[in-house]
Amino acid sequence: MLSVKDLDLKGKGVFLRVDFNVPLDEERNIRDDTRIKAALPTINYLLEQQAKVTVASHLGRPKGKYVPELSLKPVAERLSELISQKVILAPDVIGEEVLKLKRDLQEGQVLLLENLRFHPEETANDPAFAQLLAQEVDYYVNDAFGACHRAHASVGAITRYTRKSAAGFLVIKEVEYLSKAIHSPQTPYVAILGGAKVSDKIPVIENLSNKADSILIGGAMAYTFFRAQGFDVGHSLVEEDKIDLALKILDDTAGKKANFYLPTDHIVAFAAEPEAESQIKDSFPIPSDLMGLDIGPKTVETYSEIISQAQTIFWNGPMGVFEIDKFSEGTIKIAKAIAGSEALSIVGGGDSVAAVYKAGISEKISHISTGGGASLEFIANETLPGIEALTE
Ligand code: 3PG
Repeated sequence: MLSVKDLDLKGKGVFLRVDFNVPLDEERNIRDDTRIKAALPTINYLLEQQAKVTVASHLGRPKGKYVPELSLKPVAERLSELISQKVILAPDVIGEEVLKLKRDLQEGQVLLLENLRFHPEETANDPAFAQLLAQEVDYYVNDAFGACHRAHASVGAITRYTRKSAAGFLVIKEVEYLSKAIHSPQTPYVAILGGAKVSDKIPVIENLSNKADSILIGGAMAYTFFRAQGFDVGHSLVEEDKIDLALKILDDTAGKKANFYLPTDHIVAFAAEPEAESQIKDSFPIPSDLMGLDIGPKTVETYSEIISQAQTIFWNGPMGVFEIDKFSEGTIKIAKAIAGSEALSIVGGGDSVAAVYKAGISEKISHISTGGGASLEFIANETLPGIEALTE
């Protein structure tokens, strides 16, 4: 895989794919610009090298149609502030007007295309569309780690239509860290997986069960596993259609390297609401009017002890409904246990990253990934479509 540093950039047209899929509030203000800042080393490098830079990203899921609320206008403004120079916002991603803007681009200038997903051909990985994206550029640079698990036109097919394709600094850094957790993890290697859905985590559990020493499960997905074992979990969130699959995972992991842990106690309440009265439950059944909303203190203790011994940690997904303070303790304590360990720690996923910040321990994490789905898929499959496209 080439690095952006391997390209001779002066005067060259570069199509830079980034992941500026940032959260917006109702007034379309950017709530968190981490992903924009994460691409700055590459953008600034391209500008220093006097490239003509066309930046492209998706924002949200407009499903192939123009959705004004998902315009990249706020992103163009923020990027402009961050690089202290004007960013030209194109009216579209392809077409005559955009071509002219690309042609007129001067060395050291930045053109930001509109939302790639306004065109259905983007998510369809359409080669003809990719070819149009590549018009008037010499090189393709991918710094969109968060989108590398998507085989989309601006991530995959486009590499066939530029003279050279290379990875940006963010993609290189993400791949380097995540590869450590795949190929050469120092042991004990502990994976902590939370969140609502078992279905999101199946491939990663399958792969990690041969690699990690311990897999610690938290979040609502634990209740699908408990239900699969025949326990009564009250009205905890259960993926009814994944119960068989959960049972299969439990059977499969039984003979594998990793010890598979489920919570031994739970914080339960009537509903995931701040005013709901909560209590600790350390056995089943959970009464039918209650639901599990966080891991309990015994589980925190067991998990923290395992984490304290770890040399490598991968964490994706909160342990409970951490957005509500009452149900955030498990997640926060796990975050602090990770911070207190000596392990190389990698955190991926929007919610677990938010939890790291909420716990105030971001400085103590070795690598906070900008890609939730992408980091999970990379750990599961050991590569990503976007990375493959760069190495082909
Ligand atoms: C993300 O936020 O995880 C990436 O930007 C990918 O977005 P997507 O899930 O809509 O493809």
